[in-house]
Amino acid sequence: MRFSLLTSLAALAVGAYAQSSSVDAYVASESPAAKAGLLANIGPSGSKASGAKAGVVIASPSTSNPNYLYTWVRDSSLVFKTIIDQFTTGEDTSLQGLIDQFTTAESILQQTSNPSGSVSTGGLGEPKFNIDETAFTGSWGRPQRDGPALRSTAIITYANWLLANGNGTSYVQNTLWPIIKLDLDYVQNNWNSSTFDLWEEINSSSFFTTAVQHRALRQGAAFANAVGQSSVADGYTTQADNLLCFLQSYWNPSAGYVTSNTGGGRSGKDSNSVLASIHTFDVDAGCDAATFQPCSDKALSNLKVYVDSFRSVYSINIGIASNAAVAVGRYPEDVYFNGNPWYLSVFAVAEQLYDALITWDKQGSLQVTSTSLAFFQQFDSSVTTGTYGSSSSTYSTLTASIKNFAEGFLAINAKYTPANGGLSEQFDKSTGSPLSAADLTWSYASALTAFAARSGKTYASWGASGLTVPSQCNGNAGPTVSVTFNVDATTVFGENIYITGSVPALQDWSPDTALLLSSANYPTWSITVTLPASTVIEYKYIRKNNGQVTWESDPNNSITTPASGAVTQNDSWR
Ligand code: NOJ
Ligand code: NOJ
Repeated sequence: MRFSLLTSLAALAVGAYAQSSSVDAYVASESPAAKAGLLANIGPSGSKASGAKAGVVIASPSTSNPNYLYTWVRDSSLVFKTIIDQFTTGEDTSLQGLIDQFTTAESILQQTSNPSGSVSTGGLGEPKFNIDETAFTGSWGRPQRDGPALRSTAIITYANWLLANGNGTSYVQNTLWPIIKLDLDYVQNNWNSSTFDLWEEINSSSFFTTAVQHRALRQGAAFANAVGQSSVADGYTTQADNLLCFLQSYWNPSAGYVTSNTGGGRSGKDSNSVLASIHTFDVDAGCDAATFQPCSDKALSNLKVYVDSFRSVYSINIGIASNAAVAVGRYPEDVYFNGNPWYLSVFAVAEQLYDALITWDKQGSLQVTSTSLAFFQQFDSSVTTGTYGSSSSTYSTLTASIKNFAEGFLAINAKYTPANGGLSEQFDKSTGSPLSAADLTWSYASALTAFAARSGKTYASWGASGLTVPSQCNGNAGPTVSVTFNVDATTVFGENIYITGSVPALQDWSPDTALLLSSANYPTWSITVTLPASTVIEYKYIRKNNGQVTWESDPNNSITTPASGAVTQNDSWR
């Protein structure tokens, strides 16, 4: 028994050593390649970003199949969070000019009216813009409400550095705070309305979006206090508590994973959840499960379920041991480009594992609970629940295996990265060849953050530690407005007018449960409903007569609700 344990530990050590030295080589070559690839995609002088305004991040230089020569708020904010982290930790002090260009560019985009609305009517939820800072007006999955959260988190990180370094207080107060406040107010006022997920496909509630919104408001409350805005801070804290409460509802206790979207009809196993965990990592919060910290039992259980869901769907994974690293993608049901592994999803798994190792090392122990048992038993089937101090052999064996597992994910990306270090969006599930958008800026950022975690780097706390989940969730916490719909419609005896539309309060387009209008002022039919504020809502009136339903002609009617108050919408039946 003892002998065989030692033999397998030795074998593990030899295998791990060989793998680590090749991963070392990959990190050494890919770090500068990723940094250069990332910078090449930022205007005005990035070598692949011609036409992009100063501080504008292109998603990729690819102009067809797919055309990604746009700037996405999500991608840009995650990319600049990486740059700001490098700058504020002193790793690269040359980046400040670029950061200032980014905040200026984003403040222009904030003010650019677009199909989601204007700055005060929902326009901050617009996911992407043209690279010359004009609105993109084609049809798209909008709004995407993670953007303002990610952007404010990036800019607050920079603003905190300026405050701490005492050389930018008036710039922070007069220039950055108004930009940050617009985004945080948007999150505060809209978090409870439906959103397209980060993959731009499903309009429902989405774990990643909720998690990064929670972080933004929590971090935003501390920042608002730091700039003397305590009543604003209190408002953010109230909604942060509601978000934390809502965040818990994504957990599927019987299957041990996060159901990433409330809509969409998929399994819900999704890189969404892993990205949420790494982008809300706070080493001061330990292994807290309420915020799904990387080493929390819930996040580890989720990681296993998510990774395992790809073992049989990509042929490049066939034959790999059931407890070893495999190629992973957005979600197993993905059909975009036929559904393939994504570099950034693979890096995210590695990063979560490195973050977990950092935290265990810092706290000097790791805990195995009934929730995380299956995750840990992948590495040692005899492990049982309990807390293992860093001097125990269980701790050493498990952390060595988990380090090895993390390295395995980097080895997967290393294997499928071409010699020049270029990272596209995806690689082919059967051949491993790079696929879809070339030089995806987000792929490069995800390499850099995973490598930083591998080297043990940590960042300032955002306030995740010591939080208490409210015992009762305030699910209707988002602000609402009162809207009166009047429609002029002549009807025959027995016929009535109803309304249905794109939000739950308008019955989600159901003709069966459409809301009956009053004919008290016939031929004007009326109804007053409570609707989410600052939201673009589509609707139609319908006639019902003895069960027969007649819809208004196309297109749908549309209303953009104000941020507060009451409004009247006057229509004529079409
Ligand atoms: C483009 C989106 O960016 C991508 O995420 C999505 O999968 C495809 N459209 C298909 O809807
Ligand atoms: C498609 C991805 O699904 C989405 O998350 C990303 O923002 C865009 N591509 C641009 O990279």
